[in-house]
Amino acid sequence: MNDTVMNLNSRIYIAGHRGMVGSAIERCLRANGYHNILGRTSGELDLREQRKVFEFFRKEKPDAVILAAAKVGGIMANMSAPAEFLYDNLMIESNIIHSAYKNKVQKLLFLGSSCIYPRLSPQPMKEEYLMDGKVEPTNEGYAVAKIAGMKLCEMYNRQYGTGYISVMPCNLYGKGDDFDPVRSHVVPGLIRKFHEAKVTDAAEVIVWGTGKARRELLYTDDLAEACLFLLQTYSGNGFLNVGMGMDVTIAELAEMIKEVVGYQGKVTFDKTKPDGMPQKLLDVTRLEEAGWHYKTELKDGLRQTYQWYLDNYNLFNGGGTNA
Ligand SMILES: NC(=O)c1ccc[n+]([C@@H]2O[C@H](COP(=O)([O-])OP(=O)(O)OC[C@H]3O[C@@H](n4cnc5c(N)ncnc54)[C@H](OP(=O)(O)O)[C@@H]3O)[C@@H](O)[C@H]2O)c1
Repeated sequence: MNDTVMNLNSRIYIAGHRGMVGSAIERCLRANGYHNILGRTSGELDLREQRKVFEFFRKEKPDAVILAAAKVGGIMANMSAPAEFLYDNLMIESNIIHSAYKNKVQKLLFLGSSCIYPRLSPQPMKEEYLMDGKVEPTNEGYAVAKIAGMKLCEMYNRQYGTGYISVMPCNLYGKGDDFDPVRSHVVPGLIRKFHEAKVTDAAEVIVWGTGKARRELLYTDDLAEACLFLLQTYSGNGFLNVGMGMDVTIAELAEMIKEVVGYQGKVTFDKTKPDGMPQKLLDVTRLEEAGWHYKTELKDGLRQTYQWYLDNYNLFNGGGTNA
């Protein structure tokens, strides 16, 4: 592999540059002096369309690719559209990885997810536990697609000698998150609920599930730094977990968000709603041995995310005034 691929003049294509992860990676690249960055919205280039993706690569000839485009969502979205989660993600990653190979892209970083691991995996989850059991049924389509994307990278490396890296991040949160009440993940969903309860003086906030499920959460700007670090330094063929290496219960997380938002009411748990996987904690030994460690503590990241929500409040409320 050519170590000069990631130089400051390299032409770097970020697929999904407007998303939470893609935009954090773009901020990180620019802050580190990379300026030759390419991006296309889904309206400009639908990555499910093979011919258009191939043409884009042929014309633009990127040196490196960051694959942060995907159909992403929380439990409700995954359960109501499992076929779309599987199809869209398989198409996006197959089209990009194959076009990258065909157009001699030497470095590519694929964003997977910790939901690739078996539902009842021993904790913390080591990379070698992959496919030792059944994945969580509520996001099976998404998980199967992410396993396929990671395997494509590994097998292209093996057969064609490419240098494609896959990372499996834990749950992420941060600036640019999706605060939509239907689509959102746990952190933005709870921030919005607590904020709305605060401004309407609601007596209680109802949180889905028992509150006992445990989640590991990484601030997206930290993930972006990990991705750049790996693109610059990592040349192994095995995928890497990316996380803090520690987790909290949903009840503890709800308490933290309640405090960050400044809500004074009560928190109750709706035990009729699904918890998802009981625990999702990554073993990050491989990443730490490669030389990377997280920077942002959970409470600090939640504060910054809530501030971002306040600053962008009208984005999520049909153009209303800031709270
Ligand atoms: N969020 C998390 O907690 C989390 C955790 C682990 C891993 N990840 C992984 O990180 C990656 C990015 O996630 P995210 O949270 O940043 O998601 P996101 O905010 O929803 O962004 C996804 C991006 O993908 C693009 N996209 C979706 N379908 C597309 C299509 N058919 N054609 C072209 N572009 C398309 C969208 O582009 P437009 O904006 O132009 O429509 C969007 O910017 C995903 O691979 C995800 O699996 C996320």
